[in-house]
Amino acid sequence: MRDGHRKIVVLGGSSGMGLATVRLLAEAGHALIATGRDPARLAAALGPLAGDVRGEAFDAVDRTRLGAFFQRLGAFDDLVVALSGGEGGGPFRQLDLGALERGFAAKFWPHVHAAQAALPTLRPGGSITFLTSISARIANPGTAGLAAINGAIEAMVPVLARELAPIRVNAVAPGVVDTPWWNAMGAEARAAVFRQQAETLPAGRVGRPEDVAEAVAFLVGNGFTTGTVVACDGGLHLL
Ligand SMILES: NC(=O)c1ccc[n+]([C@@H]2O[C@H](COP(=O)([O-])OP(=O)(O)OC[C@H]3O[C@@H](n4cnc5c(N)ncnc54)[C@H](OP(=O)(O)O)[C@@H]3O)[C@@H](O)[C@H]2O)c1
Repeated sequence: MRDGHRKIVVLGGSSGMGLATVRLLAEAGHALIATGRDPARLAAALGPLAGDVRGEAFDAVDRTRLGAFFQRLGAFDDLVVALSGGEGGGPFRQLDLGALERGFAAKFWPHVHAAQAALPTLRPGGSITFLTSISARIANPGTAGLAAINGAIEAMVPVLARELAPIRVNAVAPGVVDTPWWNAMGAEARAAVFRQQAETLPAGRVGRPEDVAEAVAFLVGNGFTTGTVVACDGGLHLL
C-alpha cells in the first residue's frame, strides 16, 4: 500500500468479501468506513475488528441516501463496491426476466450510482474497485443473466479508468467464494456445489473471503494498475 494512512469506503462491508476487505485494510492501518443495510448485522460484523473502523447503515439502492452519505463523509481516498445482488440466474429459455431486472436493480445500478455519487469527494489519485463475478466471462450455461449484470459493470471499467484518471478504476471478478451469499441455497445444495468446485478447480478448493480481500487490497494500493479486471477464482475461468 503506497500512501500510508488512507480513508477507504467499503459499500457492502458487513459480510463476506466486503467484510474481509475491511478487516485486511484496517489491519494495514487505514481508516475504514463500512456500510450495509442491516444496522445490527453491521454492528456485529465490525464490533470485533481492530483499528480505525466505523459503520453506517443505509440501502445503497437509494441514490439520495448514497449522495448524503458521501457528502457527510467528505474527502476520501478509495471506494470498494461489494454490494451483493443475487437474482437473474437460471437457464435462458425459462429465465424470469423480471428477476433479471431485479438483479440489475440490486447490483448493476447501485454499483454505478455509488461510483458516480462518490466522485465529488473522491480524491484525485484515489481508486474505485468493483466486485463483479467471473460469470461475466466463463460462458457457463445458466448464467447468461448474471454474466450480463456483471459484464455490464466490467465493460465500464476500462472506459472509466481513462475518463476519470487520475482516479484509478478496477474490478475483482471472484469465482465461487464461501460467504453468506450462498445461504439462500440451503446447506446441502451449497455443500454439493462447493465439493464439486473443489474437485474441478485448479486451486483444489473454493475461495475464502480473504483471498478476494487480498486482490482488492492490491488494486486499492497499487498506483500503477488501472482499467483492469482481476480474476480471483481458483482458475475457474480456465475450465
Ligand atoms: N460469494 C460468491 O461466491 C460470489 C461469486 C461471484 C461474485 N460475487 C459477488 O461479490 C459481491 C460480494 O459478495 P459476497 O459473497 O461477499 O456477499 P455477502 O456475503 O452477501 O455480502 C454482501 C454485502 O452487501 C451488503 N448489501 C447488499 N445489498 C446492499 C444494499 N442495497 N445496500 C447496502 N448494502 C448492501 C450486505 O449487507 P446487508 O444485507 O445488511 O445490506 C453485505 O454486507 C457481490 O456483488 C456478489 O454478487 C460473489
